[in-house]
Amino acid sequence: MKILFLGDVVGRPGRRALADLVPAYREAEGVDLVLANAENAAGGSGLTLKIAEEIRSCGVDAMTLGDHVWKQRGFDQDIQKLSRVCRPANLPPGNPGREFVVLEADGFRLAVFTVLGRQFMNLKVDCPYRTADRIMSELDGKADGVIAEIHAEATSEKIAMGWHLDGRATAIVGTHTHVQTADGRVLPKGSAYLTDLGMSGPHDSVIGRDKDAVLSSFMDSRARRFAVAGEDVRLCGCVIELDKSTGNAQSIETVQLTA
Ligand SMILES: [Fe+2]
Ligand SMILES: [Fe+2]
Repeated sequence: MKILFLGDVVGRPGRRALADLVPAYREAEGVDLVLANAENAAGGSGLTLKIAEEIRSCGVDAMTLGDHVWKQRGFDQDIQKLSRVCRPANLPPGNPGREFVVLEADGFRLAVFTVLGRQFMNLKVDCPYRTADRIMSELDGKADGVIAEIHAEATSEKIAMGWHLDGRATAIVGTHTHVQTADGRVLPKGSAYLTDLGMSGPHDSVIGRDKDAVLSSFMDSRARRFAVAGEDVRLCGCVIELDKSTGNAQSIETVQLTA
């Protein structure tokens, strides 16, 4: 069984690439399920009901979010209507939205959830490792395989999550940095691991935004509007192959799709 997981979809350029590339890739590569992090899908920050539906229609089965989860007004209400979207599971109690999504393909139940890291991140959240343990036990008997995402800045925090869930999750993958890493591997107990999926959006940019504006702000320390960039659009992520009888990963390969 093959799963495609795409990193942070950025703005309209990212969404357009999903529509242009995902249906054909699914078909050509025999992908069973497609996941995507959609935390930057609406104007570069957050998600809306309408945009979530648009992304679903591109052949994305489920979406995760990140630290930008509540950036779009009204999404804290609208998320309740989206059965295929989950918010970070370690947001403190009182946050709306699902903590995980369970999909089914070919009789196999695959769950996905995400947790936020705590190093160099703005949101104050519960322990990602203990939260992952809690979600794994909630999924016991509900899923045959689990894809755990850690949305974090620090590579150390992400690698530690890989070891924490090795042998329990089908795969542990990172998001948030928007830069794809080259460390994909299957860990000793059978979980696939990758530190960052990368960004599904414009790469002629600084992590998705207008490069001149970001560079100028770094140089003069003045705030600016960072428009979503538009060129060199790539969908970045990975393909995980899993053994349906065990739920373990067989392989993980990074992908970068361009039109
Ligand atoms: Fe992001
Ligand atoms: Fe993020």
